[in-house]
Amino acid sequence: KSHSIPGFCGVGYGDSECGIGSSSSKLLIKGGTVVNAHHQEIADVYVEDGIIVSLQPNIMVGDDVTVLDATGKYVMPGGIDPHTHLAMEFMGTETIDDFFSGQAAALAGGTTMHIDFVIPVNGSLTAGFESYTQKAKKSCMDYGFHMAVTKWDEVVARDMEIMVKDKGINSFKFFLAYKGSLMINDELLLEAFKKCKSLGALTMVHAENGDAVAEGQKRMIELGITGPEGHPLSRPPVLEGEATARAIRLAGFINTPLYIVHVMSIDAMEEIAKAQKLGQKVIGEPVTSGLVLDDSKLWDPDFTTAAKYVMSPPIRKLGHGKALQAALSTGVLQLVGTDHCTFNSTQKAFGIDDFRKIPNGVNGVRSDICYRLCADNKYRMGAILAGSDADIIILNPNSSVQISAKSHHSRTDTNVYEGLKLKGKVEVTIAGGRVVWENDELKVIPGSGRYIKMSPFNYLFNGISKADAAYLSSLKAPVRRFRDQS
Ligand code: URP
Ligand code: ZN
Ligand code: ZN
Ligand code: ZN
Repeated sequence: KSHSIPGFCGVGYGDSECGIGSSSSKLLIKGGTVVNAHHQEIADVYVEDGIIVSLQPNIMVGDDVTVLDATGKYVMPGGIDPHTHLAMEFMGTETIDDFFSGQAAALAGGTTMHIDFVIPVNGSLTAGFESYTQKAKKSCMDYGFHMAVTKWDEVVARDMEIMVKDKGINSFKFFLAYKGSLMINDELLLEAFKKCKSLGALTMVHAENGDAVAEGQKRMIELGITGPEGHPLSRPPVLEGEATARAIRLAGFINTPLYIVHVMSIDAMEEIAKAQKLGQKVIGEPVTSGLVLDDSKLWDPDFTTAAKYVMSPPIRKLGHGKALQAALSTGVLQLVGTDHCTFNSTQKAFGIDDFRKIPNGVNGVRSDICYRLCADNKYRMGAILAGSDADIIILNPNSSVQISAKSHHSRTDTNVYEGLKLKGKVEVTIAGGRVVWENDELKVIPGSGRYIKMSPFNYLFNGISKADAAYLSSLKAPVRRFRDQS
């Protein structure tokens, strides 16, 4: 029983806890076009106890099976969102979507699994893990954890090992921005990169130069620019490009794989492309907002409208999104996240007099906005195969959906995609073998989601030790110099 995800985790989920506690309902999805990463076919899909049992034309079943007609529709794996922040304490407040409301919004848009970022409690990884385990108890879909590392000492190093070996975490995020809170310096980054490499854990970096951002913010305030537009003006693409290049070079120096989260600019994307050409193991994740939106709304005279677009790195000028879409389609960028990090209008208003106090983050936790961007779904979704988890969507290509805060199922009162019309509608979402979204209605059960453990040493580690050996043998024998004895 596995998720069979060929993309993000590479090696799959190892000894995942998937399959435990799933519903015993039996489902037959009839006559749809079953879409996998490299193949599509018209077939029926039979599901039992949360698992896909068979996939073939004309499956016959008894009366105890619920039949869903998918004729003329696509039957696809549910989306996997590798980047969310549910119930995260950040910038003096907490994101308004918790592990229930955020997941409900995700399921209504075709996402059936997400990976959230555990934020340490006072720097403690174990306390952070405990806190997020409690928060996630109300989950209604499968989830995994990445973990942020915000300080460095022997205890943190030991806890990283515990997280990888016992707790199913295989990726750690390091913030080069958010000076004074989450940001770390290069010395810590190098220590952490070494530790991640030894554990087979993936290093993830939020790439903006936090010292330069602080300088940019000071500059804006001195110029009297205190509104939301001060946010993008204070942290331009060059600061994202610099930090991306630095993270890449330091990961290259340690020779460990690197994942750049929320790639928002051409500057950052080009650094990734350059490193890949040189053979370095670097992957990049654009997020929905960076692919679809531009920065124009940040100049809206209405504060609530402008503030809802404040996130970091900022949404960039027109042109960056199209370039990121092209990089995604050519494989320079590998997977899409949403960076769902919602604050409502009241929370955003903390920064009404000073953009530096606007909580950073936008909504977006649903896959359907991305479907039209990526024809090849292999990096973001599971698979419809016998033996896989029954995390499935039925998408009607002839229907459409319009995004609105009135119907997005999230707790936040605004939506950065308000009014966006999508061709193709997720009509049914099946999570863990249960129909959880049908006829525009959610049927979600708190506590039905499962924690998915992830294994270390994913595919990006292939070749790392060989490169280390080549490096060592390229060093000449140590030069011995003797003191003059005379
Ligand atoms: O503005 C953002 N992206 N908020 C979430 C935290 C992060 O940096 O991912
Ligand atoms: Zn970040
Ligand atoms: Zn994020
Ligand atoms: Zn699952």
